[in-house]
Amino acid sequence: MNENGTPILEVRDLRQFFPIQAGFLRRTIGYVKAVNGVSFTINAGETLGLVGESGCGKSTLGCAILRLYEPTGGEVILHDRYKELSVLELSPREMRQVRANMQMIFQDPFASLNERMTVLDNVIEPLVCNDIGTSKEQEAKAEDLLMQVGLQKEHLRRYPHSFSGGQRQRIGIARALSIEPKFVVADEPVFALDVSVQAQILNLMQELQAEFGLSYLFISHDMAVIRYVSDRIAVMYVGKLVEYAERDELLQHPAHPYTEALHSAVPRLTQRGRRDRIILEGAPPDPSDLPRGCVFQTRCRYAEAKCREEEPKLREISGGHFVACHLAEELNLVGIQS
Ligand SMILES: Nc1ncnc2c1ncn2[C@@H]1O[C@H](COP(=O)(O)OP(=O)(O)O)[C@@H](O)[C@H]1O
Ligand code: SF4
Ligand SMILES: [Mg+2]
Repeated sequence: MNENGTPILEVRDLRQFFPIQAGFLRRTIGYVKAVNGVSFTINAGETLGLVGESGCGKSTLGCAILRLYEPTGGEVILHDRYKELSVLELSPREMRQVRANMQMIFQDPFASLNERMTVLDNVIEPLVCNDIGTSKEQEAKAEDLLMQVGLQKEHLRRYPHSFSGGQRQRIGIARALSIEPKFVVADEPVFALDVSVQAQILNLMQELQAEFGLSYLFISHDMAVIRYVSDRIAVMYVGKLVEYAERDELLQHPAHPYTEALHSAVPRLTQRGRRDRIILEGAPPDPSDLPRGCVFQTRCRYAEAKCREEEPKLREISGGHFVACHLAEELNLVGIQS
């Protein structure tokens, strides 16, 4: 689905730290380093899958890119057709225009829809807010989109509460796409849905991607979902990317022990090529109190003395395949067939 290699969004050394305050004067005594120096590029028409356990910073990263938070540091560059925009430096007025290009689909379609508005008005609202088209055009556009995501004409004047989770997510998708964004952060969009409905929503998102030339940052804790939707995959662990590659390369030749463990957790349909599940003992480190050395050392079955001393930097081990592990070339990790 990678139309070409034209970047649409670049993220450079992005950091989002949340202060920890204590005492009567609410002094800052430390920081939760939720996103701790993340860099990547998303190309036009591409899906970058972002995977990692709950709490590793995926949603914070998505929100920081869209400036729903004010990031602590780093850069986000949006490539418009003729210019490059440094998103974190835009004024609120400039940001309003740019926001039309960058939208979010949320995990919980219950929270992202306005219960007091009809389905149609929910999809029209972003057009009104961004002053796009006449009211007739807005209505026609919203109707078209709602049909396209699979709703029926008789649904349009109903209220969101009368729909199932899957249908609500369809409405949420229509709402996010009504102002024709180029880049969409989809944060666990199928998390709350039954497995059969998940596949329908994922397929719908792929159809819409092809039709509108969208680029997705697709966030999920579930490697099976990420495998299904992604062109490239980024693996996140406690605020950092630990591995990043083309989908098939990351599946077949994982180079980080954490990626190997995530692969091993995906159930197999056949007995052939069965492998043992790698159980990750313990919990990830506290993002406000990171260990010296490798962030994964406390759960890594390959850890050596060096891993406790020195932090491995993210480095390119083959074309477009980046990994942060001292032993990447020595370990022969188990992948999966795509
Ligand atoms: N607004 C906030 N204030 C303080 N800490 C936060 C805030 N939002 C998230 N965190 C912390 O940042 C870390 C990453 O959270 P999150 O981005 O929600 O992870 P994920 O989406 O991967 O589950 C967690 O430790 C979480 O507790
Ligand atoms: S650097 Fe060491 S601890 Fe970290 S993932 Fe690699 S082998 Fe494991
Ligand atoms: Mg999240």
